[in-house]
Amino acid sequence: MPLDLANKSPIGPKDAFSDLPSDLDMYLRDIQGNILKSHGRDHSQHLFIQFTEPAEARKWLGSMAGRVTSASKQWKDSLQRRKIFAEAEKQSYPAAWREAQLTERASDIFINVLISKKGYDKLGTPAGQIPQDAAFLRGAQNKETTTKLGDPPVSAPAGHDQWEAGFQQDLHALVIVADDSAAKVALEADRISDEVGRSGGRIAHREIGTVLRYGENGPVREHFGFVDGVSNPLFYAADVEKAKPVDGQFRFDPSAPLGLVLVKDPGGDKETGYGTYFVYRKLEQNIAQFNHDRFVLATAIAQADGREAANEADKDLAGAYIMGRFRDGAPVVEFASESGVGKDIPNNFDYKQDPNGDKCPFQAHTRKTNPRGDTGSPLERDARIVRRAISFDVAGKVGLLFLCAQSSIPNQFEFMQKSWCNDPKFLRPEVRPNPPGALDTGLDPIIGQGEVTEQEWPQKHGNNERIKATLKQSVTMMGGEYFFMPSLSFLEKAGA
Ligand code: HEM
Repeated sequence: MPLDLANKSPIGPKDAFSDLPSDLDMYLRDIQGNILKSHGRDHSQHLFIQFTEPAEARKWLGSMAGRVTSASKQWKDSLQRRKIFAEAEKQSYPAAWREAQLTERASDIFINVLISKKGYDKLGTPAGQIPQDAAFLRGAQNKETTTKLGDPPVSAPAGHDQWEAGFQQDLHALVIVADDSAAKVALEADRISDEVGRSGGRIAHREIGTVLRYGENGPVREHFGFVDGVSNPLFYAADVEKAKPVDGQFRFDPSAPLGLVLVKDPGGDKETGYGTYFVYRKLEQNIAQFNHDRFVLATAIAQADGREAANEADKDLAGAYIMGRFRDGAPVVEFASESGVGKDIPNNFDYKQDPNGDKCPFQAHTRKTNPRGDTGSPLERDARIVRRAISFDVAGKVGLLFLCAQSSIPNQFEFMQKSWCNDPKFLRPEVRPNPPGALDTGLDPIIGQGEVTEQEWPQKHGNNERIKATLKQSVTMMGGEYFFMPSLSFLEKAGA
């Protein structure tokens, strides 16, 4: 029986302390981890590989089949950790006990392998075994792709915007190595680099990712200071149960069918082989520019209120108007101020109570990227992406190594970037008519690419008066590629 990709109910046990049923585990042993749930490790290295000797490279891929973390192993490792954390609470010295247990029974290092279209070609993969997504086939460097997304050109004369040299090359495969210890990641990444060097390939480029947190074990944040990684489609019943509000009624249902992210892997096992398409984008964040923009908007808010200078509350509100959430994760459609980073960050909300954008502007990053029903179209939920990003901070440059998984790059990531974030007419007036004299919504102020224009923002939270401000772009696309994350059975076959 094939896996039901249109599943109405989320998969697996509702209780996160249970084992996976064997009929599901059979598939999850062949699907890579980090698709249906984030690997959650704090450190990672991304090794971009160029194959030189196809036959040797295929053998190397085969050798990775036994080392890649499957979704099944990810579940089992997390189960062990959950049990350790629960048991620790019963001990007299929980933290010390937990640390000792985690050291003794540490999870294995997390590994993913992904292949680009150029990689499949270089490996000499038969056409019938190559995934067929239209965007994947053209690749991220393709002129049609960069034009569609408003990306800078891959290469340009000196002094003009262009991609980083590492991303200007042909990138055939990507290995993700992740762990909570940066030292363990470095060791494993070096070991893989050596093996690749001996087996028909070279590391063409490397990125280093480090999770930023509020406090030692607090929520994840990104470089502009906002809690990140909160809202994502959920596939496991245990995750959906955990997200359920007390009354059991979702206002925004985070669950998703497997078909949002999985497709049949044409090169994998006929029955169990499934994979996903990954978008990789290195996005540099200009913190000074972002803070300047936030200050410009905060000053406009203060002056509309009869005050000359912006105070901290104005700056907080300006940041929330831009992002859609305050730094502590509180959605601006529900909260007028931030209250400090807590444990549970609200995600069960929609924008029904704010049809005119009086609390959360239509252009806010989270409203552009997930309108939560604003468009009235059932297709909106199918455009969701599965975000697996990690921050970077290397040689004075900071930003996000943005990764997202989906079953269709044109209908999900590309649609979101082009038709929502880059389109000044989304959401208004494309979906809702403009009131007389009103400006169009404009770009997503975080990741919109295109002509920056003056935008309207609520003068006060919940107020239908508007102020105007023009914000510059503070995120720059430095390069990337489209990949397929194949089944483990494909990797095995490649090496046979
Ligand atoms: C440097 C670049 C970026 C930054 C700083 C950033 C930051 C954030 C933050 C702070 C959140 C709110 C927390 C959360 O719900 O997880 C968020 C949500 C989100 N972002 Fe981004 N993001 C970036 C790039 C992107 C890109 C390239 C896309 C896709 C085109 C994207 C799509 C989303 C989506 C879908 C959500 C969830 C919205 C929701 O469900 O409410 N982000 N982002």
